[in-house]
Amino acid sequence: MTRSSLLCRRWVKGTEPAAPGVRKAGGAGPAFGMTRATPGGRLPQFPWDQLAAAGDTAGNHPHGIVDLSVGTPVDRVPGPVRTALADASNAPGYPTVHGTPELRGAYSAWMDRSHGVGNIDPIAVLPTIGSKELVASLPGQLGLGIGDTVVIPDIAYPTYEVGALMAGCTVVRAEGLMALGPERPALLWVNSPSNPTGRVLPTAHLAKVVSWARARGCIVVSDECYIDLGWDSVPVSILHPEVCGGDFTGLLAVHSLSKRSNMAGYRAGFLSGDPALIASLLALRRHLGQMLPTPIQAAATAALDDDGHVMAQRARYGERRLKLIDAFERAGFAVGHSEAGLYLWCTRNEPASDSVDWLAERGILVAPGTFYGPAGARHIRVALTATDERIDSAVARLVR
Ligand SMILES: Cc1ncc(COP(=O)(O)O)c(C=O)c1O
Repeated sequence: MTRSSLLCRRWVKGTEPAAPGVRKAGGAGPAFGMTRATPGGRLPQFPWDQLAAAGDTAGNHPHGIVDLSVGTPVDRVPGPVRTALADASNAPGYPTVHGTPELRGAYSAWMDRSHGVGNIDPIAVLPTIGSKELVASLPGQLGLGIGDTVVIPDIAYPTYEVGALMAGCTVVRAEGLMALGPERPALLWVNSPSNPTGRVLPTAHLAKVVSWARARGCIVVSDECYIDLGWDSVPVSILHPEVCGGDFTGLLAVHSLSKRSNMAGYRAGFLSGDPALIASLLALRRHLGQMLPTPIQAAATAALDDDGHVMAQRARYGERRLKLIDAFERAGFAVGHSEAGLYLWCTRNEPASDSVDWLAERGILVAPGTFYGPAGARHIRVALTATDERIDSAVARLVR
C-alpha cells in the first residue's frame, strides 16, 4: 500500500475567511493570485506531456508512427448516432442537467438488457459530460476533503488520484482490501475491466468489496467504462444483484459511451446507483450547470438503444487484439491480464522507459506503466485503438 499524502490548504495562513468560503464585504482580502494556493499546483505533471520525446522518435519512422499510446477511438461514429445528432441539432434552449427521460430510460434499459441490472430507476441516473470530468470532480462533489482518505487501485487510471487531490483528500493505493488494514476510507474506487491492466474483478471479489465498504460506511465507486469489452472474462457491474443483493446504498457506477460507441468526441458518460447520492449530486451539478448538450443527449440515447454497433466494434477490436498479442509476444513481451478492455499490459522485465524507447525506434508509441503508479514501473500499456492498416504495420515491424 502506498500513501501519497497531500497537504493542501485551501487558504494560505492569515487569509482564512471568518465563515467557510465567505468573506465580509469591505474586508481587506489578499490580492488575487498572490497568496492563494491554486489546486493545479498539487497535481502531478500531465502524464502524456512526458511522452513527447518518444513521440518525436516514433514520428520519424519511414513508415510513419503507429500510435498505441492514448487509446482514442479511430473508427467511425455509428450511423444511428450521427443521424440522431443531426436530427436534434435545432436546439436553441438549455438542456437540463438531469437529461431527458428518454436518455435515462435508454440507459436503464441497456443496463438491464446487457448487464443484468434490472432495477435502475431512471430518476437515479445522471448524465455526465464524458466520465473524466466526473472522475476528476466526484470526491469534491461528494463533499470529501482534508482528512478524508480515497483508496484507488495500486495500478490505476491517473484521474482517480487527481480527483482526490483536487478535493484535498489523502490518496492510498492498494492492491487489495487486506493491504488496507484498519483504514476507514471515505471512498474506494474500483475499475473493472481495468485501465491499464485489462483485469476483470470476479463477482465474488466485488461482493466482498461491497460488504467490506458497507461495514465501514465507505462509498464504492465502480468505473465500468470498458464493461462492454470483455474478451476472456465477462465483466460484472457493481450494481449486479449477485454483487450487491439489489441494494445500491453507498454504491455508484460510472459508464461511458466513448469507447464502446466511438463517441469520445461527443463526451457522454453516466453515473447511477444510490438514489440519495445521485439526488445530491444532481442538486449540486444543477448549480454548476453541468449539462450534456441536447443533440449529444439525443445521440447518446440512440447509442444506448442500438446493440448492433457495439458488437461490430467489439469484433474489430477483437481482431486487432489477437494480432497485437501475437506480435508483442514474438517481440519478447509477456502479456498479463488483458482479459478485457482496450489495452494490453505488457512487460519484458525491463524499465518501462526502455520498452517505450525500443518501440519508439520502430515507430510504435505506447504508454509506460509508470503513468499508472509505481507498481507499473516495468510494464507498458498498448492500446488497441488504431486502424487495421496501422495495426498491420506495427505487427510487421515487431515480427521482423
Ligand atoms: C478507466 C477510465 N475511466 C474513465 C475514462 C474517461 O473516459 P471518458 O471521459 O471519455 O468517458 C477513461 C478514458 O480513457 C478510462 O480509461
